[in-house]
Amino acid sequence: MPPLLERVGHNPLGARPVIGLVIESVDWHARELIAALRARDIETVPVRLTRCGFATQSATGLHVDGFDGALPDGLIVRTMSGGTFEAVTVRLGVLHALRELGVPVWNDARAIERCVDKSMTSFLLSRAGLATPATWTTESYDEARAIVQRQAAGGPLVLKPLFGSQGRGLMLIRTPDELPQTEQAAGRVFYLQRFIGIERNGYHDFRVLVVQGRVVAAMQRHSSHWITNIKRGGRPVAVALNDELKTLALRAAAAVGAAFVGVDIIYDSAQRPIVLEVNSMPAWSGLQKVTAINIASVFADCFVESVGIRKARGATA
Ligand SMILES: Nc1ncnc2c1ncn2[C@@H]1O[C@H](COP(=O)(O)OP(=O)(O)O)[C@@H](O)[C@H]1O
Ligand SMILES: [Mg+2]
Repeated sequence: MPPLLERVGHNPLGARPVIGLVIESVDWHARELIAALRARDIETVPVRLTRCGFATQSATGLHVDGFDGALPDGLIVRTMSGGTFEAVTVRLGVLHALRELGVPVWNDARAIERCVDKSMTSFLLSRAGLATPATWTTESYDEARAIVQRQAAGGPLVLKPLFGSQGRGLMLIRTPDELPQTEQAAGRVFYLQRFIGIERNGYHDFRVLVVQGRVVAAMQRHSSHWITNIKRGGRPVAVALNDELKTLALRAAAAVGAAFVGVDIIYDSAQRPIVLEVNSMPAWSGLQKVTAINIASVFADCFVESVGIRKARGATA
């Protein structure tokens, strides 16, 4: 593959590789990534997806925020804000288009679509033969009631926002009457899943960070609540992963086809590890607190390697 900078349309003016970082604000994660990339002599330009769009008459057919008609040498999608169906479609379209134009995008639009939609993740995990809780979706309140009625004998279900994150909006459902009406269900879709949580002196699960087919870091999350997200008060605890968990996390990342993911895994009552979800835009500030290696540095190394940009000689993390 020729060096990216020599490709037509790619950052034609810059002497140094320039990576776009999709963010809404320069937070801790952004600063970590920018510093790690700078240490590898790579410039980072913040990109607001809301300011990107198609421009079919232009050389690339796209307008990428901050790139003045040129293309980035690579794009890291750290966060993606919500919006109308149309706005999100265009933003994902821009990410798809960048990939079409040969720009490495982490994670690419397909992987983001597969992970943001929790039901697609459940489908892909289950199709790949990986242990994941039984899951149902329906737009019908009556059908949701029927599912809960049928499944109630096997224990509670969890109702989750299809596009949920950081433990927001989850509910335990034991009887059909506990279901919200369709108008109150997030996005008017019922995503129902078998509850796997077990109280074992509090609740515990695992977050495993996978980058390019490698387990980079992991933690256990401890909480007094069954929702263990760090944002909801879960406590990160250092952990040495066994091979079973490592393999499961790697297979989950492969099942959704993502380069960079945070995989949530929980042990069920039979001590089997079960994949709860795969995050295509995972935060890692909690994980960094209990991890010796610098996660942004490892991420930058893997991204730079995958992008095919040579590290500046002598650069260190
Ligand atoms: N099926 C389930 N069984 C037991 N606990 C669950 C289940 N689904 C979610 N949880 C708990 O809720 C948390 C958040 O759910 P998750 O599916 O990871 O969504 P989010 O995107 O909000 O993190 C999990 O980390 C776990 O603690
Ligand atoms: Mg989660």
